[in-house]
This record gives sequence, structure tokens and C-alpha cells, in this order.
Amino acid sequence: MSKLETLKMLRELYIYRSYGFTYYKKREIVPEKPNASIPNSMDELRKNVLSCFLCTLCKTRKNVVFGEGNLNAKIMFIGEGPGLNEDLQGRPFVGKAGELLTKMIENVLKIKRSETYIANIVKCRPPENRVPTPEEANMCKPYLFKQIEILSPQIIVALGNTSYHYLTGDERGITKVRGEIIEYKNAKLIPTFHPSYLLRNESAKKEAYRDMLRVKALL
Ligand code: URA
Repeated sequence: MSKLETLKMLRELYIYRSYGFTYYKKREIVPEKPNASIPNSMDELRKNVLSCFLCTLCKTRKNVVFGEGNLNAKIMFIGEGPGLNEDLQGRPFVGKAGELLTKMIENVLKIKRSETYIANIVKCRPPENRVPTPEEANMCKPYLFKQIEILSPQIIVALGNTSYHYLTGDERGITKVRGEIIEYKNAKLIPTFHPSYLLRNESAKKEAYRDMLRVKALL
């Protein structure tokens, strides 16, 4: 079974489970183009995502955090997943990590946060802020990929390990890859430390600052 077929099968299993089924009989999956059932406009996509029940995170979320920003943004920031404040407000990066991200954007890149677009690998908060499971991340990823396709940003900043890993499939840790400029889809992808990590590791801020200067040079 191909990776896409496996994902589709998993997606169906989640749907059936959310209906209350405990047993699922294997059936043929009709191959279709990737993302064929996902809308091509951001508004439509948002509507779909707001009513998504494809993984168990839907059971504990208060709000879906779809992502926000300028639809003509040159630059897109991608984090891991909503935390407590994001879950409560339905907006990405609005807590302490969000404050730091906003400073990184406004003080180093010298642009307004509202000129960028900000999203996450998963759109619903993992309980206790744990790292999303591969099932949750892979189930949610088509939404993010569609956002990237619609926005078509010139620069993507992957914030932290989880973001970098699920965007690229590369298993290397963020400390190894941060600051690299990677050709990715039609954009340049730059991995850097997650703002939450920077809040806990003050000394990494100078490296993140350097990464942001590299980003600035590409703008
Ligand atoms: N951390 C993330 O990865 N994303 C958010 O939206 C907030 C905190």
C-alpha cells in the first residue's frame, strides 16, 4: 500500500471511529489526486478545517487554530501546534512564545506581523502541549500543504524540530539544520529554533537572530 493510500485508510478509520464504529472492514481505496478533495480557496479551506474531526485532538480542543495573516505574504512561519492560549483564542502564537515571535518579526525583519502568515503543523491543541503524534501530524498536514499552495510564499520559516521534520521528512534535529536555506516547493525554507525553546534557552537567541538576518536578506 502506498503512503498516500495508508493515510487515506487512516483518515477513513478515524471518521468511522468518530461515528462510534469499533470494527472496520477493509475496502478498496479509489486512487485520487493528492488534496483533490481539499478546497483551493483559503476561506473554503478554513471552513473545512473548522469542522474537522479527523483525529482525536478534536475531542479536547476549544477552538481550531487555522492560521492567520496576509494572503499575499512573502513569508510564512510554521510552528508545531496550538498551546493553551492559542486554543482559547483560536489564533496562532498569541502566548509568550507568540510575543517573542512577534518581536523577532518586527524587530529583526522590520516588518509587521500582520504582513506575514502564521500557521502550525497541527490545527488543534495536543493535550498538555505534548508533541503531536505522527498520526495527528500526518492527518493534518494536507491542510497545511494546501495553505502553502494557496499562499505560495517566497520564504517559509520552520519553527523547531516538529515543524521542520513534518515539512521536509528530514530526521535531522534543528540544531544541525538551523540557518540552512533549503529549496522547498517554490520557496526557500529556513529552519530555526522554536520561540518556546528560545524562552527556555536564552543562549540560543543569538543563533536565532542570525537565522532571522538570513531571512531578512532574502526578503
Ligand atoms: N507554539 C506553536 O508551535 N504554535 C503556536 O501557535 C503557539 C505555540
